[in-house]
Amino acid sequence: MSQKKVFIETYGCQMNFSDSEIVGSIMKSIDYQLTTEIKEANVIFLNTCSIRDNAEQRVNRRLRELRSYKKNNPDLKIGLLGCMAERLKEQIFNEEAVDLIVGPDAYRDLPNLLNTVDSGQKAANVILSEEETYAEIEPVRLDNNGISAFISIMRGCENFCTYCVVPYTRGKERSRSPETIINEAKDLFQKGYREITLLGQNVNSYQWEDDKSFNFTKLLESIALINPLLRVRFATSHPKDISDELLHIIAKYENICKAIHLPVQSGSSEVLKKMNRKYTREWYMNRIEAIKTIIPDCAVSTDIIAGFCGETDENHQDTLSLMQMVGFDYAFMFKYSERPDTVAAKRFKDDVPDHIKSKRLEEIIELQKHLSLASNKNDIGKTFKVLADSISKRSKLKLSGRNSQNKVVVFPKEDYNIADYVNIKITDCTSATLIGEAVLIS
Ligand code: 5AD
Ligand code: SF4
Repeated sequence: MSQKKVFIETYGCQMNFSDSEIVGSIMKSIDYQLTTEIKEANVIFLNTCSIRDNAEQRVNRRLRELRSYKKNNPDLKIGLLGCMAERLKEQIFNEEAVDLIVGPDAYRDLPNLLNTVDSGQKAANVILSEEETYAEIEPVRLDNNGISAFISIMRGCENFCTYCVVPYTRGKERSRSPETIINEAKDLFQKGYREITLLGQNVNSYQWEDDKSFNFTKLLESIALINPLLRVRFATSHPKDISDELLHIIAKYENICKAIHLPVQSGSSEVLKKMNRKYTREWYMNRIEAIKTIIPDCAVSTDIIAGFCGETDENHQDTLSLMQMVGFDYAFMFKYSERPDTVAAKRFKDDVPDHIKSKRLEEIIELQKHLSLASNKNDIGKTFKVLADSISKRSKLKLSGRNSQNKVVVFPKEDYNIADYVNIKITDCTSATLIGEAVLIS
């Protein structure tokens, strides 16, 4: 019998992409081959996201499309993985052509669950764990450029922001052992990788349970010390846990990238309180001041939600003014989407009309476009060390890469290759890209 094939489609955040690499590894251990051709697959997994309603709608549409695949191939098995599996549980069996439901902490059970499915029954495991970190599973690298990779360092979230479904779909916060993280990073470096991103819902609350003094700052420093040629990034940080100690370590090591993703969500202290973000506008601005003082060349990006429950026009203006004051280099911007069973859904009214949410979001996006362009224009004339990671999509004669600040930089290829560090002097830009040319630094 020929080897069975699994096709994995991933939705949502980087954490989910990292989880799909763990799922891939588990499937390989039971002799499945990973395929990028959906038509060849015996098993299709959708690794799903529940963060906003439209993320779930996309998956629902996909599931309906997959029904026709099943008609053509009755032996095909479809599995729903990740946050939607956790949120909707067995209920989804009633609605969709799904054979298997597996929550984010239950991937080790996939071999058993597939056995059940192969015997013609449906199977589910949505038990959340307090310990699972998949610590010693070596992920297969999907979407692989051979240069950058994710390493998941902690899972779960206990912040309970009132709008957010994640604490319910991903459970309690738990950190992975430093040893397994450092070994994974060393192994990647030896295999030729040059950039790793440490991932967690709140990376900076990382704390190893066997040695509470081993916090995120210590972990980051240990990774930076592996080799100066290995760059380190991390996402996502919570503003409440951005300590000066951490900022000093970022400043100290050249290979710790000077880019912090620090979701603010709103510029209004009143809204932040209702969101249970545990900081005020003033606290956030104080952290920004600290970043700019300790790491003057640090890029700051953010997430913003427009139209949270009860948000007034004045609250919205506070968000715009905070964006101006910080001058974010980049932002992910969303309309508030009520999620069932969250505190906001239970206690507050989703009372900002949709057209107002849309208008506010447009204003936020428009302002961010200006801020990103201003930030890029400010880089013209500067020289950055860029890690080349691909051939430019627009021209084979150009390379594309990122600088420490996580900005995309495009430059003439000349004799440079992917995985090279190249010093690039910036000569031009758009709001999304820096354009430059290589310079020799004596
Ligand atoms: N509605 C809109 N955006 C949300 N986010 C989280 N929950 C919601 C929601 N219910 C956004 C936040 C978070 C990012 C990952 O998604 O900005 O930082
Ligand atoms: Fe990631 Fe959150 Fe979406 Fe789950 S709900 S996939 S944790 S963004």
